[in-house]
Amino acid sequence: MITTAARLNSVHEYYFSQKLREIDALNKQGKNIINLGIGSPDMPPHPDVIKTLQEESTKPNVHGYQSYKGSPVLRNAFANWYQQWYKTNLDADTEILPLIGSKEGIMHICMTYLNDGDKVLVPNPGYPTYRSAIQLAGGICIDYELKEANNYYPDFDALEKNDLSKVKLMWVNYPQMPTGQPASIKLFEQLIAFGKKHNILICHDNPYSFILNDEPLSILSVEGAKDVALELNSLSKAQNMAGWRVGVLCGNKERISEVLRFKSNMDSGMFLPVQLAAAKALSLGKDWYESINAVYGKRREKVYELLDALHCDYSKNQSGMFMWAKIPAGFENGYALSDKVLYESNVFITPGGIFGNSGDNYIRISLCATEDKISEAIERVGN
Ligand SMILES: Cc1ncc(COP(=O)(O)O)c(C=O)c1O
Repeated sequence: MITTAARLNSVHEYYFSQKLREIDALNKQGKNIINLGIGSPDMPPHPDVIKTLQEESTKPNVHGYQSYKGSPVLRNAFANWYQQWYKTNLDADTEILPLIGSKEGIMHICMTYLNDGDKVLVPNPGYPTYRSAIQLAGGICIDYELKEANNYYPDFDALEKNDLSKVKLMWVNYPQMPTGQPASIKLFEQLIAFGKKHNILICHDNPYSFILNDEPLSILSVEGAKDVALELNSLSKAQNMAGWRVGVLCGNKERISEVLRFKSNMDSGMFLPVQLAAAKALSLGKDWYESINAVYGKRREKVYELLDALHCDYSKNQSGMFMWAKIPAGFENGYALSDKVLYESNVFITPGGIFGNSGDNYIRISLCATEDKISEAIERVGN
């Protein structure tokens, strides 16, 4: 008999992996499900990005293995991007590590820093990958609850009451997914002070700062942040390149080389034309971000209508590519509402509980669908 490793017992198949199979089966029965679940941008990258990939990939000398720490062109592009948009200085040679998407970076960080039994603070609700990566690496998740009443920020007073002596890492993510809560410099300063006081590495995951958010912020812009924080970023969302798999880890030289020690044993670099096209994407100006946000802004107006049709409560002060909303009384939880809408209206929306039990009474709707699709969803729900 073939048995799996014990470490796999702590994780299950990713919710969307299993749900998309179910949606596929429903579609095969002719249901034509409108999927408002996943945050995969449905628009293409800028044409110059695609042109760079096309042109570069016709060259004969770009097909070999690439540097483990990424092409200097891409590292410089990330450094310039951080300088231009986040007013943050990063050394392109030592403080930037391109990644095959930021999701892999979550695993790399956990594998680099966690020993069996080390504790990690995780947001509830939050991106489920933090939890699975921690558990796969042998760590123990300690939830910290994000409450609407506290603007979905960590409650530092409550955190201080815990025994933090075995806590090694803390995962944070603002603009927060799934709640849409934007970041603030004050919050970042509090996090850095908290990390320094308790010797906890603050791991900030920052893929949504350009989506429906007036001011992109980086935790690394805070004075002294590099002593105690790492930041992940991504081209999946704001550059419409989710399938290309390009992200980055930023932090001080020591941290980057520690993570590289793990990562360089896992993969052998990224296809050079993809890296050069990503560098092009990072050089795009304000017009690009305005153009995508104009589309997301209109979609969000439609999603407000859909949420009204579902009698949900929501804040209009959300950033990122989702809307987070509280379900009406009468439903046991977000799963019940999501199932009813899926089976009766052929529309898929994400139950908030998949992000942790603090999300049980919520749903999350993605803005990665056309206005027409969202209008049709409103019609179906209305019927
Ligand atoms: C909060 C958060 N972090 C990280 C990721 C992963 O992004 P990437 O495509 O860069 O791996 C996602 C993707 O949905 C996300 O929502």
